Amino acid sequence: MIKTPRFTQLQLADPGNEQHELITGLTAAAAHFSPKYFYDLLGSRLFDAITCLPEYYPTRTEAGILRNQGEKLASVVPHEAVLIDLGAGNCKKGMSLFDFIHPSRYVAVDISVDFLREALEEVQRQHPDMTLDGLGEDFSTEFRLPSELRLNPETPKVFFYPGSSISNFGPDEALVFLKQIQAYCVKNPKSGLLIGVDLVKDKATLEAAYDDALGVTAAFNKNALLNINQRIGADFALADWAHVALFNTEQLRIEMHLEAVRDATVHWTAQGDGKRTFRQGDRIHSENSYKWLKSSFEALLREAGFKDVTAFTDENEWFSLFWAS
Ligand code: AVJ
Repeated sequence: MIKTPRFTQLQLADPGNEQHELITGLTAAAAHFSPKYFYDLLGSRLFDAITCLPEYYPTRTEAGILRNQGEKLASVVPHEAVLIDLGAGNCKKGMSLFDFIHPSRYVAVDISVDFLREALEEVQRQHPDMTLDGLGEDFSTEFRLPSELRLNPETPKVFFYPGSSISNFGPDEALVFLKQIQAYCVKNPKSGLLIGVDLVKDKATLEAAYDDALGVTAAFNKNALLNINQRIGADFALADWAHVALFNTEQLRIEMHLEAVRDATVHWTAQGDGKRTFRQGDRIHSENSYKWLKSSFEALLREAGFKDVTAFTDENEWFSLFWAS
């Protein structure tokens, strides 16, 4: 008999709080919104399309590292562990690890549970004997493993955080997140974190990856305005906004913004009618994507309490996978 994946849902964000958060950001002196608002259904599909673009090197570089150094990775990452996939999405990256590390159980964590449910059913078809769990959780502010999963603190765990998802955290937030993961690893010396991190490189390569010739990243950025229109009853007109992506060489981060191409007044109806007038050239800051030096990220992992760190990189050192235990 084929097993069925089990699902646990932690409390997800409340729409009223999200409206408040959005309106606070849009009315701030420096207007901004959280990059989580990129990922409605269309936005998630646009992100998938981004990962196929010739300019967007991270996804393919990371996959190449796994392909070329899988054996080496398999020699340091424990086998038969519980694999905890953070932001599992379609579970394809998680599954690509199965042949190397043969996990005994797979826990897929994602904010988008419906999407995860379908993905996990497919995982179960391909791996009928494996114990699978789906966990609906928004771990952008706090990560926790619920007791419902009945995970023994002493069983080896492999946390998997690929794709440089850590990039949306600034250095301070990244440290907090890494410490939360580390706390789940202390009871077993084999447990650890396998994390993908995009590295600092020349400005032109970085900026092209976030401003592709096809305009998919521009569409991804502007789609957040459509999502926001839905969420707070706003009337952003896409024609008033242009996509801007630039590498901030001081902060070592790509910044994405939406820039008003003419004066534009935006109205909304949620939580009492409101509006804001943007002047031509005004920007709304929509995302930071931090890039790391290999040495600084290694130092961050150590600061979070990990003792043993192994880095796997491509030949250009554009991207790095770290195993930290
Ligand atoms: C999902 C945060 C890793 O920063 O490269 C891609 C998001 N934004 N293109 C990244 C993103 C624009 C992506 N992360």
